[in-house]
Amino acid sequence: AATTSYEAENAARTQGVVESNHNGFTGSGFVNYDNVTGSSVTFTVNVGAGGNASLVFRFANGTTVNRPMSIAVDGTTVSTPQFAGTGAWTTWNTSTVNATLSAGSHTIKATATTANGGPNLDSLTVSDSGGGGGAPT
Ligand code: GCU
Repeated sequence: AATTSYEAENAARTQGVVESNHNGFTGSGFVNYDNVTGSSVTFTVNVGAGGNASLVFRFANGTTVNRPMSIAVDGTTVSTPQFAGTGAWTTWNTSTVNATLSAGSHTIKATATTANGGPNLDSLTVSDSGGGGGAPT
């Protein structure tokens, strides 16, 4: 599979700020979602080989309360992962969503669905279904 990472700090967002005060992030920082329902980050990704793709969200949640988000592909919700506590704001974990993506450009929007807002979001890594055995299922 061809794998590409997209940094949250370079993505579009409706609410939230780019910060770098908790170590362990990749790139230049992460997005600290505002603590409100509906805050969101939208990545525009490019897929080489259409088919089953994996979307790997890297995040930290230093609380013990889940920070669920709805994940929408081109405006359609495909999953609502929980983004459970990682133990510390400096401890980063991944949550993987599988989706069918055609070749070409797509938007991947991660929207907080509770008043606590989303986790701190570091990046999205997309693996497409091309060559080398395809994306994880
Ligand atoms: C703390 C933490 C932030 C985090 C926030 C939250 O303020 O330092 O990085 O985003 O909690 O609860 O979302």
